[in-house]
Amino acid sequence: MSARAKLLRTSTFRLAALYLILFALSVGALLGYVYWNTTVLLERQTDETIRAEVQALADQYRLRGLRGIIDTIQRRSTDESGSVYLLADAAGQRIAGNLTSLPPMPQAEASWIEFPLEVDKGSARERHVARAFHTDLAGGFDLVVGRDVEALRQFGNIIRRTIYYALAIALVLGLGGGLLMSRNFLRRVDAITEASRTIMAGNMSGRMPVQGSSDELDRLALALNEMLDQIESLMAGMKEVSSNVAHDLKTPLTRIKARVEAALRSGSEADYRAALESTVDDSDRLLETFNALLSIARAEAGQSRSGLAAVDASTIIADVVELYEPMAEEEGGSLTSETQAGLSVMGDRQLLSQALTNLLDNAIKYGAREGETPQITVTGKIDGDRVVITVADHGDGIPPEDRTRVTERFVRLDSSRTKPGNGLGLSLVSGVMKLHKGALLLEDNNPGLAARLVLPLHRG
Ligand SMILES: Nc1ncnc2c1ncn2[C@@H]1O[C@H](COP(=O)(O)OP(=O)(O)O)[C@@H](O)[C@H]1O
Ligand SMILES: [Mg+2]
Repeated sequence: MSARAKLLRTSTFRLAALYLILFALSVGALLGYVYWNTTVLLERQTDETIRAEVQALADQYRLRGLRGIIDTIQRRSTDESGSVYLLADAAGQRIAGNLTSLPPMPQAEASWIEFPLEVDKGSARERHVARAFHTDLAGGFDLVVGRDVEALRQFGNIIRRTIYYALAIALVLGLGGGLLMSRNFLRRVDAITEASRTIMAGNMSGRMPVQGSSDELDRLALALNEMLDQIESLMAGMKEVSSNVAHDLKTPLTRIKARVEAALRSGSEADYRAALESTVDDSDRLLETFNALLSIARAEAGQSRSGLAAVDASTIIADVVELYEPMAEEEGGSLTSETQAGLSVMGDRQLLSQALTNLLDNAIKYGAREGETPQITVTGKIDGDRVVITVADHGDGIPPEDRTRVTERFVRLDSSRTKPGNGLGLSLVSGVMKLHKGALLLEDNNPGLAARLVLPLHRG
């Protein structure tokens, strides 16, 4: 498409053209109305007065005869009203009036005529137009009564010319303005198109040009840039996750391979057995990791949001605490819980149990300092329009600067590497919170960690 065709096809230009047409129509209608009201009506009025005068003169003639009509004409001819009169005899000779001779006229009994008129304007003579009515009187006389309509005609001309100029100016300004606006618009759209092409070509750090005028194009560009930021960070996250996954799966697979090879080399049945058994264990752990990754992905994609139902969080807390109490006691510690009534949330029971399980698992693993036993409390409370479930321990806690990082996949703090785990527990918890439109807060328990699940309260 040529540049000009593109310009004419922009919505701005079409809008400008439409407005131009509307504007021209209304200006035309307005001026047309003024024109009609002034010139046409004035001319009609003139015609009516002429007709009335002809009627009056004819009456004079009928009532008072030739003398009467001559008197009246002579009286009226002298004033400077711009009226023209002529009474001529059958031979066309002037009897009375301010016209010197009969103007050319059709051979009708009565008719409207227009003819040029020489007017004395002091030093110069001007040619004006006169409009008159001509009628035959009894006795072969010709009567012509008219007006100098030069001023009227000139006035009409001025108005007509004004209409043409106004329309022409509106057209030029409208078209020019429309083209200018469209060109500006088109230039910016082209810039955005160009930017998106380079981004598609692989320059993910490219962004849409923003003018700073916060008009609709700027807002569009800003929204697109926000989207690009999001895509970029998601892609970076993906890259990191896949390299983490690759790294985390490589270690156990290498271990399995080494063990199986060693067993094959030794050839003893006992070694075979031992290698197979530990392979089963390692595969279990690999499967666990995969399942956790899949659950996180599903929770983050918000896939099961439609499956959410009203659940009582206190029953979830009771169930999970019952399961973990023996484990805490086995470590010589304690696990106590305290829940308020009416902890209703819209949720997925299975996923919420899993999230709480992951927090308790961490509390048992990391919730005690060297030489101490885990003292864990679980509380469920309503706070305004939210339900807050807290798992608190008295371990080393998580340093503030690491609190966002630990919710990422595979992130484990160095101090925790001696304990079993894959670093996916808190990722799943925050994925589940995202699905529930809630949040996972990690806070200081002085000492220890207070992990809070904050969920919207469901009022059913
Ligand atoms: N209650 C806690 N006290 C101290 N550190 C914790 C606690 N919970 C989690 N962490 C830290 O956060 C990291 C990530 O936790 P998580 O995702 O559950 O992985 P994992 O339990 O497999 O190590 C842990 O490795 C640990 O360093
Ligand atoms: Mg964990």
